Order: sequence, then C-alpha cells, then structure tokens
Amino acid sequence: MATTLPTTTATPPIDPAPLLADAGLERDADGVLRMGAVSLDAIARDVGTPAYLYHAAVIRDRFRSLDQAFGDLPHEIHFAVKSNASLAVLNLLKELGSGADIVSGGELRRALRVGIPPRKIVFSGVGKTEQELEAAVGARIGSINIETADELTVLERIVGRRSVEFPVRLGIRVNPDVAADTHPYITTGASGIKFGVPVEQVVGLARRIAGNPRLSLVTIAMHLGSQLLEAGPFGRGAARLLQLIDDVRAAGVRTIEAVDIGGGLGIRYRDETPLEPAALAAVVRPLVAGRELMVHLEPGRYLTGSAGVLLTKVLYRKRSGGKDFVIVDASMTDLVRPSHYQAHHEIVEVSARGRGPRVVDVVGPVCETGDFLALDRTMPDVESGEYLAILCAGAYGAVMSSNYNSRPRAPEVIVDHGRYAVARARETVEDLYRGETADPFRT
Ligand code: LLP
Repeated sequence: MATTLPTTTATPPIDPAPLLADAGLERDADGVLRMGAVSLDAIARDVGTPAYLYHAAVIRDRFRSLDQAFGDLPHEIHFAVKSNASLAVLNLLKELGSGADIVSGGELRRALRVGIPPRKIVFSGVGKTEQELEAAVGARIGSINIETADELTVLERIVGRRSVEFPVRLGIRVNPDVAADTHPYITTGASGIKFGVPVEQVVGLARRIAGNPRLSLVTIAMHLGSQLLEAGPFGRGAARLLQLIDDVRAAGVRTIEAVDIGGGLGIRYRDETPLEPAALAAVVRPLVAGRELMVHLEPGRYLTGSAGVLLTKVLYRKRSGGKDFVIVDASMTDLVRPSHYQAHHEIVEVSARGRGPRVVDVVGPVCETGDFLALDRTMPDVESGEYLAILCAGAYGAVMSSNYNSRPRAPEVIVDHGRYAVARARETVEDLYRGETADPFRT
C-alpha cells in the first residue's frame, strides 16, 4: 500500500481562462465570477456551501455540437445518466432530444420519471439483477445490452414466463480489446477486465438470441473507457464492431439496427486538448458508410463535465510541517475524483483580488488524510470566509458523493437564462436517519 500522498511537487499554475470559458464563466468588473450573468457570490450566500451549480446553456451547447457533428449520419445520443443523474439535467437533455444510457434500475426510474421515451433508453451493466431486467423488459426500452451469457439465460427465463407483445430488444456489449490511454480505473474496453462479451463469443450469443422469437438483437455496443482524448481507439473499436456486425449478419441474424460506440469523449480539466465531436465523427463516418446502421453515442462527461462547478467556502488556513493548508467546507464526500483518481480539478477564487500565489493543499473536513481536493497547488493566497469554485465538477461529482462522516449531500442548482433555481435541496441530517432505528430489537 502506498505510504505517501500521490503528488509531492508543486504543479505549475495553469491559465484558467480556457476552463472558465468552457464553463461559461466570466468575471465582472469587480472580479466576481458570473455564470451566465448570475453572480456565484450571490448564489453561495443564498444557497450556502458546498453547492453544485450546473450551467444549462453549456449543456445545451455541448449537446448541439455533438448532434451537429454526427448530423449527416443517422444517430441517437443517449446521455450517460451515471455522470449526472439530476432530474433537472435529465429533463433539460430530454428537451433537446437526448435519450439515456443507464446502468441500474434506479437510473431507469429517473429516465422514465422525466419522460425520456423508453425507446431511447439503453441499459448496459455487467451485473444487472433479475428485478432490473424485469423492469427494463416491462418498460420496453430501446436496448438491453447484455454483458454475459448468464444474463441472456435470465432474460430467456423472463420472456418465457411473461407475455411480450413485441420481441424484447437486446444488444451485445462487446469487449473489443482496444486499449485506451486513460486512468486504469476507467478503462473499460480492454481484455482482462470485467466489461463486455469477448469478441469470439459474440456470434454464438447472437445466434442464441435470434433463436428465440421473443428476443431480437438490435445493437452491437462497446464502451472503451472514459476521458479519452484521441479518436484513434474509437476508430479501432468501431471497426471491430462493424466486422462483428458483418459476421453476425452472415450467420443469418438480420435484425441489427445500430452500432453503439459508447461514451468517453474527454474534456479539458487542466490544459488538455479535448476530443472534439468532429474528430470522433470523422473516424466513424467512413466505417458506417453504406451499411444502413444507426450510430448510438453514450456521452456523459462531454455533456455535463465542464458545465458544473462545486462552490465551497474557505473555513480555515493552517501552516503545519512546512506546508500550507486551505481547509474548505467541501470534501471527498462531495467530490471524490481528486482522492480516488488523483484527478486535477482547477480551483479558482469566486472574487479575484489580484493576490500573489502560494503553494497549498486544499483539504476538506473529513477525517481521512486522503480527503483532499488539490495537493501542492499553486493558487492565490486565499482567506478564511471566502468562496472558491472547483471547476469541471458537472460529471461524476454529485453522483459519486457520499454521506461519510454523516455529511448531508450538497444541493444542486441550475443556472439558466440569467436565473438560478435549486433543483435538489441540500440533504438534512434527518434524511440520513431515515430508515434507522436506535433499538432494532425492541418490538
Ligand atoms: N457508457 C458506458 C457503458 C459507460 O460505462 C460509461 C461510463 C459511459 C457510457 C459514459 O462515459 P463518459 O462519456 O462519461 O466518459 N467515475 C469516473 C468515470 C467512470 C465512467 C464509467 N462509465 C470518473 O470520475 O472519471
């Protein structure tokens, strides 16, 4: 087990301007950050901290850019609900025409709750329960993407015991064995990891599905990994899927409608060059040309990552062991990505005051040394009581939050058309007690 914290040398400061632009943030004449004309200082005072803010205009722009990049191809975008499950965000995306990529019965309920048409819902996941599969069959979703032969056995059982008016639409999530350059925890399309059906088993499974009149194989899918910055792996993965589609069709299975290339488009967290939708479309276009296939996409981070900010307040400053600490009211329970993946999230002052730089660790109140939001970060010399904005927090932020240390989860606020509204209230401690009893043996 590692005995030191992940980074020990100060990282050079980066220019936050492109990150602020990605988030639709600007500074007013007084140096105060504004999200679409709304002052972050005003929101922090009103709603309290920590708080998640999502910029609706940015989510809309992202959706439209992706949609336009694939505009000449028949395609459908299924937002990866796991990245941001806020009903308000899902509703906004539904209005734009998005479907949903889900991984649990809970996400199915959320997608249906905001009125995403069932036909535009795809369900991946390596361990779907029988109950979850029942719910997906009952809702008649667009595709249940199976990841094991055992899962197919469960589906055969489900359709065997209930009447289905139309064949249940299935996909096969393939492990195309394409390595992608990203954090090992979020690589999902290489062999030797738990996701997807190995290439050599696909035709056999396709035949088995085709042999059951209550099932129909409509999609061949992959998801290579997350935060990918190169289009190359998508091209290699998609080429494998298309070869498989040819093989499956040659084996007499004629029902395939779509190739699903998953999600994974990377965004800028520091100074990366993001993967642009046009570059992705350019590698996919020649592969699908003339094949009568829809292209399905499952982006999460690309649509919401840059659009979100986690607002926090500086509680205290401390100097200890030759280090400077900035102790804030957000923690690993609100945003786990820095401690879990050593992910970089840029942190900026809500009110810029031209102060000189200092190298600090930005840490939360949780009783874990691993509870940090930034280590050895060069940033302005901030003071107790002021607000900070943690950028790129719109994907895998609120959804990965926890109640460790009995910390209620932060509220989620939508900023749109110069206004803001709380879309999810701050949790209360009473919410945390719900379902608990202090003396469970007393009848
Ligand atoms: N489709 C499938 C089947 C997935 O498993 C995922 C993400 C996506 C789509 C969406 O990927 P995206 O476009 O957002 O990269 N918690 C990690 C990321 C885990 C991603 C899991 N799967 C993080 O904070 O970086």
